Amino acid sequence: MNDEISRMPGVSKIEAVFVVGARPQFIKSAPVIKEILTKHKQIHLSLIHSGQHYDTEMSEIFFRELEIPSPSVNLQAGSGSHAVQTATIMKRLENRILEARPDLMLVPGDTNTTLAASLTAAKLCIPIAHVEAGLRSGDMTMPEEINRKLTDHCGTLLFAPTRTAISNLRREGLGEIAHLTGDTMVDALQTVLPIVRARESAVLDGFGVQPQRYVLVTLHRPSNVDDPKRLREIQRALCRVGSKLPVVFLVHPRTRAMLRKLKHYGTPRRRGVALTRPRGYVDTLSLLKNACCLLTDSGGMQKEAFLVHVPCITLRSNTEWPETLTGKANRLITDARMIPGAISSVAFDKALRKRISTLKSPFGDGHASYRIAMVIEKKLGR
Ligand code: UD1
Repeated sequence: MNDEISRMPGVSKIEAVFVVGARPQFIKSAPVIKEILTKHKQIHLSLIHSGQHYDTEMSEIFFRELEIPSPSVNLQAGSGSHAVQTATIMKRLENRILEARPDLMLVPGDTNTTLAASLTAAKLCIPIAHVEAGLRSGDMTMPEEINRKLTDHCGTLLFAPTRTAISNLRREGLGEIAHLTGDTMVDALQTVLPIVRARESAVLDGFGVQPQRYVLVTLHRPSNVDDPKRLREIQRALCRVGSKLPVVFLVHPRTRAMLRKLKHYGTPRRRGVALTRPRGYVDTLSLLKNACCLLTDSGGMQKEAFLVHVPCITLRSNTEWPETLTGKANRLITDARMIPGAISSVAFDKALRKRISTLKSPFGDGHASYRIAMVIEKKLGR
């Protein structure tokens, strides 16, 4: 598939389809969609939603806040095992792609939607552009690592956010189709920061917390939340933190379902830990920007913490964003019992915060979407 584009004659109108489906993909795609629709008339772009995420707070709110146009179709794949979810998306997407026969399919990130769309396009010999290519955690037990590796190897244009990502792609023989663009999440963040600044104090008031006086938590990886014993340990550790410092825990639906089973959900401010539903992009960034520290297992949140200069503790043994470990801006821990100690070691460390704010961002300059659109025009256009 990799030399597909070099064999194509240039087309005067590039028919492109963007396939998204899960929360982080809406954020990564929004600036690319906006860039193409407003400034690159040669590209005719349509949007397909796989339906992997379907709750208002996991999907609709991001379309609203990031001004993403409504998708032309929602495949309504919904939840299921990895095989069922991936296969459902593939089956429903194939018909659409056969009808539309686009010149290019864009897929962002590393979710099951990303992989399902890539496999569908690859089998139909439709060129694939991977937005956020080349990330590697080195951990093939993570579904995302499988998804991103296979997508890169089906890809035709690989848009890498960082130099590390470019090196990873070169190591796997994909250097020739890789383009260093910067990270589209920086573009998204820059666009929304003025709105965050205008709303942050109201958001904090709503949670009854003060700037730099609370810890923000997001956890949703199966390795942390699917095992009741592990989740109980984490919850116990958070209660210890909460007895000293308020904790705002934005609870992903997967985590909420597990906490409900353990009867830990539904008690507001359980020992200083406010368990609350997931929020949209503006509220989440407002809470992140003002937190004294973030505890997370999300890839995107590690990076966003770095970009808004907030110390991060990552409850994982690895990260696909090793750049965030620079200057101890992010620290990996695996033992849940270490959570309180790790948090107290960074939460009020003014020198650390200052150091993080002086680190040069390796994630680009906020113009990744422009570069992506230009490469597409150059490679596919006439
Ligand atoms: C998916 C991505 C992960 C990403 C995360 C962001 C994969 C393999 N994983 O994980 O990389 O970091 O999205 O959120 O694609 N659910 C709802 N409502 C929704 C969506 C999900 O209640 O709108 C519940 C369902 O019970 C579902 C569970 O959450 O079974 C997990 O959802 P799923 O899409 O399978 O994976 P995520 O854990 O969200």
